[in-house]
This record gives sequence, C-alpha cells and structure tokens, in this order.
Amino acid sequence: MAKDVIIACDFKNAADTYAFLDNFTEEKPFVKIGMELFYAEGPQIVKEIKRRGHKIFLDLKLCDIPNTVEKAMRVLSSLDADIVNLHAFGSKAMMEAAIRGLTRPDGTRPLLIAVTILTSTDQDTLRNEMLIEKPLPETVMSYALNAKNAGLDGVVCSPLEAAKVHETCGEGFLTVTPGIRFPEGEKGDQKRVMSPKDAKEAGSDYIVVGRPITAASDPKAAYERCVREFLQ
Ligand code: C5P
Repeated sequence: MAKDVIIACDFKNAADTYAFLDNFTEEKPFVKIGMELFYAEGPQIVKEIKRRGHKIFLDLKLCDIPNTVEKAMRVLSSLDADIVNLHAFGSKAMMEAAIRGLTRPDGTRPLLIAVTILTSTDQDTLRNEMLIEKPLPETVMSYALNAKNAGLDGVVCSPLEAAKVHETCGEGFLTVTPGIRFPEGEKGDQKRVMSPKDAKEAGSDYIVVGRPITAASDPKAAYERCVREFLQ
C-alpha cells in the first residue's frame, strides 16, 4: 500500500484551485477536495482535477440512512475519486451500504475511510450533547473497529492516534492524518499537531497537509519538503 502526501485544496472556487495546481508542472500531487469547493463547483471540479492527472480524496463525510448513502456513493464512484469518506457514526449498516454503492460492476471501488469522532468534539460535548458516557479515546477506537468490521479501508485520525488505530484494527487499516505542521510553522487553528517526519515515525499512511503548503511562499518547495520528510 502506497503512502503519500495529500494536499488539502481548501479553496473557494475552481479558478483559485487551478491557479494553485499550476505550481506543479511535473509531479501531480494527491489532492483533497472538501465540501466548500465541491458544493461551489459541483462534480466537474473532480473530473477536471482527475483529467489534470491528480489522485483525489473527496472529503464529503456522508452520513444518512443506508439507502441514501448507497445511492450517493454510487454517484461518487462514477466520478473516479480515489478515496471517499463518511461518518462512522452513521452505523455499520450505513457503512456496508456505502461499500455496495461504491463498488463498480467490474468489482473495483475507491478506498473508503471513516471519520470517527470529529476532532472539534471534546469529552464534554460527547457526554453533554451526544450523551455518550465512554471516554473519547475508547469511543474513537470503537468506531474505528466498526469501520473495519464493515469492510472499510481506514479512518481519518490524528497522527497521535495512528499507532493505536493500527494496534486495534491491524497494520493494513489505513490512517489518514491531518493536523500536520512543520516544527517552525504556524499552528493556525490546529491544536494537536505533528511534523511530517514525526507522522512517519507514528505510522501514518497518508498525511493531509493544507496551509503549510497552500499558504507557503513557495508551495512546490513546501510540498517537496513534506514528501522528503514523510516518504523518504
Ligand atoms: O490547513 P490544514 O493543514 O490545517 O488543513 C487540514 C485539512 O484537514 C483541512 O481540510 C481540514 O478540514 C481537514 N481535517 C482536519 N482535521 C480533521 C479532519 C479533517 O484538519 N479531524
């Protein structure tokens, strides 16, 4: 299984995204497209970035009844994204339906990964609003195991959780980890961060890097530094 650096393309429209991607002439980085860009530009943005030769993680975090998710995943599969995701909170039945929807007639499908508990949710919110009494780390691992048992390929998690996820769900279960910062860089709104080098040591399979690359004065150099420190 190939490890890689995924650039979070958190741009508001196609023009800004293509202007950013034009920094990369030879190598074609793996990119993440989130809700803002997808809702602004529609499926065409996925098709165009694929046409330009990039792999795509379509970060739309689906969560609905199994039948709806199955049909929505069938549409996403036809867009030829390489990784798609959903909320493990939606249940094992929903995750199994998602896999059915994603699987093409020839048996191939994009990788499917789950969000466990959002990193914006803390223990108090879990207990007081979601009425989940269990400790947050135990809840995260339990959701990861549900995803694994439903046949998913991995989870989005903090690089700080990657080793524990692998211990719980197996080494082959993918950990896709945002919250990456260079040691000397700005943290921004991220609280618990790791450098590309430390994420490699922690066993992350894919690192998702946004602003340390997209806001850099030389995005290509910042991307190449991530590749060097995470992959080599
Ligand atoms: O700019 P930055 O490197 O913080 O971007 C990280 C990307 O990963 C953003 O697109 C953010 O929405 C996403 N993400 C995250 N934490 C999660 C899940 C997704 O930062 N738990």
